[in-house]
Amino acid sequence: MGLIRLCFETHKGPLLSMAQVSLQGGQVTSWRNEKGEELLFTSSKANFKPSKAIRGGIPICFPQFGNCGSLEQHGFARNKIWTIEEITPPLQPNDFNRKGCVDLLLKPSEEDLKCWPHSFEFRLRVLLGVDGDLTLTSRVRNINGKPFTFSFAYHTYLLVSDISEVRIEGLETVDYLDNLHQRERFTEQGDAITFECEVDRVYLHCPNVIAVLDHKKQRTYVIRKEGLPDVVVWNPWEKKSKSMVHFADEEYKQMLCVDGAAIEKPITLKPGEEWTGRLQLLVVPSTFCDEQFDL
Ligand code: BG6
Repeated sequence: MGLIRLCFETHKGPLLSMAQVSLQGGQVTSWRNEKGEELLFTSSKANFKPSKAIRGGIPICFPQFGNCGSLEQHGFARNKIWTIEEITPPLQPNDFNRKGCVDLLLKPSEEDLKCWPHSFEFRLRVLLGVDGDLTLTSRVRNINGKPFTFSFAYHTYLLVSDISEVRIEGLETVDYLDNLHQRERFTEQGDAITFECEVDRVYLHCPNVIAVLDHKKQRTYVIRKEGLPDVVVWNPWEKKSKSMVHFADEEYKQMLCVDGAAIEKPITLKPGEEWTGRLQLLVVPSTFCDEQFDL
């Protein structure tokens, strides 16, 4: 118990897209297009037990991205049970919400306050649009008497056909911190990012639209972000995969994390202030992409 899954669907003529959200972590765990094809990666070894992060979908990294201080890696939000807000009539486990939208809420527990002594309300809206696009809007409000500071990421596991056939466009000439070289700063030199080894980078001050092209599937993920200056790009590749929990040895070939994030300059909220960070994901045929999006 402790894990409740919601499904919601939206209609576009006779077509149907679907997303699934878990209250465990406030996490989108599935997103399917109108052909029923899954678009997000979830590991075959993912653990859906309470207090553990689910390996796949879109974990919420809050109040920190990464691993420093007394907080756990990527913060506690992804390990907590969120509650549903403002739905009438109330949804039951496994109900379908035909509005294509769900609002979730996270407030700190006594235990959270011990390791991060700041009162907040975190509201997450997950919205499936008529075109099958998926939008996540996070609103963090300071209900503390003092300012607090946090970093954040939508740790988005995209499902790809073969990592060697994938490229990211839109990050050319952007500076990044390389987690594999003690966070040293480099500038992206290539025309596009391709993958042939482990990559773990935080790209800084990125454009608000980037694209992930899956050559084999001839489809492109278009990622739009607001309030999220940075983009994390991560694939553990062969060696690291073998040491990771809840991840099968060969699964690195089918996933790529591209996260809209606020990391380099953490967000500070004064009492009563609110921050908003929005991520929109859309999948289009690759042939479509160059004409439609100004990358
Ligand atoms: C990535 C980080 O975003 O998350 C990596 O850049 C990290 O350094 C990865 O290994 C996975 O983290 P976790 O805690 O989900 O295993």
